[in-house]
Amino acid sequence: MTLINPTTFLILTLTFIPLIQTQLTPNYYQKTCPKFSEIIHKVVTEKQQTCPTTAAATLRLFFHDCLVGGCDASILISSNSVNKAERDAAVNLPLSGDGFDVVSRVKTTLEIECPGVVSCADILVAAAHDLIMVVGGPAFNLQLGRKDSLVSKAADSENQFPLPTMTISQVIPIFTSKGFTIQEMVALVGGHTIGLSHCNQFSYRLFNFSPKAQIDPAYNPKYAEGLKKLCENYTKDPSMSAFNDVMTPNKFDNMYYKNLRKGLGLLATDSAMFEDPRTRPYVDMYADDENKFFQDFARVMEKLSVSQPKTGNKGEIRTRCDSFNTISY
Ligand code: HEM
Ligand SMILES: *[C@@H]1O[C@H](CO)[C@@H](O)[C@H](O)[C@H]1NC(C)=O
Repeated sequence: MTLINPTTFLILTLTFIPLIQTQLTPNYYQKTCPKFSEIIHKVVTEKQQTCPTTAAATLRLFFHDCLVGGCDASILISSNSVNKAERDAAVNLPLSGDGFDVVSRVKTTLEIECPGVVSCADILVAAAHDLIMVVGGPAFNLQLGRKDSLVSKAADSENQFPLPTMTISQVIPIFTSKGFTIQEMVALVGGHTIGLSHCNQFSYRLFNFSPKAQIDPAYNPKYAEGLKKLCENYTKDPSMSAFNDVMTPNKFDNMYYKNLRKGLGLLATDSAMFEDPRTRPYVDMYADDENKFFQDFARVMEKLSVSQPKTGNKGEIRTRCDSFNTISY
């Protein structure tokens, strides 16, 4: 048997450290920033209390960061004169400021506690994780150790996202091409159990829908009447919006799926999830069994959160979440 001398051992160990570090782990900041979880929890809970739209804003921000190129905080970068960043892609423009704000608040606090240690990418994932629980949803396994992207381009987000006007046949490939099954897609869309949509995202379903029907027949007629009133001035006031889940708008539960069965799906894609035979069985399953929804939602959130992570020298720990550490042209 061969004995390895201490020097060889040290060299081997140092050589393999970068490989070990490419793995995300739940306790990544245990030694370098032991108060990581405590600080995130405190800051996001306070923000949610004063501003109840934060949880939904952060969940959608997480989805839009992670679906394209993995969770790497590329969505948080501000545009400048030479670069149109991801957040200014058309599909990302309605993202609510509350999500960006909560991440920046956490970052400020963490930079005082343990400067230069925690990535903005990890903050966004952990904030979404905590906020889902604050509004009654399930915990997913929180994996940490992501680096922040060195690039953020609006063009990378164009045509990558599902739009409410798409058919289910158009929406499915967006998810399956990124490694998600139809069932996982239906579980993820359950995120529409919280938050809101602006009238301009669904108003065409209410006014002059088609030559045959003024209102989209997929809507429950009473619900549609209410939405028409709510959105009557939306062309003058683009901030007019409606809750995604009309029954329990601020609670993370399986009401979204129950609503779909009653014609209470706000976006056309929501209604279509119930009408299409490929997705309807899962809508029914989650409407009947909240535990099953919570289990599947937690699994697919973890899966989305660990897809294509940037680790090692593929990224950096940003000092500010909205700009790269070095300005590159
Ligand atoms: C078929 C797929 C999807 C489509 C077409 C879609 C589309 C939209 C649209 C148009 C809005 C309204 C934006 C606005 O007017 O401000 C919205 C809101 C929202 N979406 Fe989705 N989405 C989809 C899937 C998802 C997924 C997978 C998640 C997360 C897991 C998600 C989470 C949210 C949340 C939380 C809101 C509310 C945001 C807020 O209140 O600030 N969506 N979505
Ligand atoms: C729309 O505008 C009219 C006239 O200014 C006003 O009376 C009405 O309350 C507004 N509706 C909503 C939902 O804000």
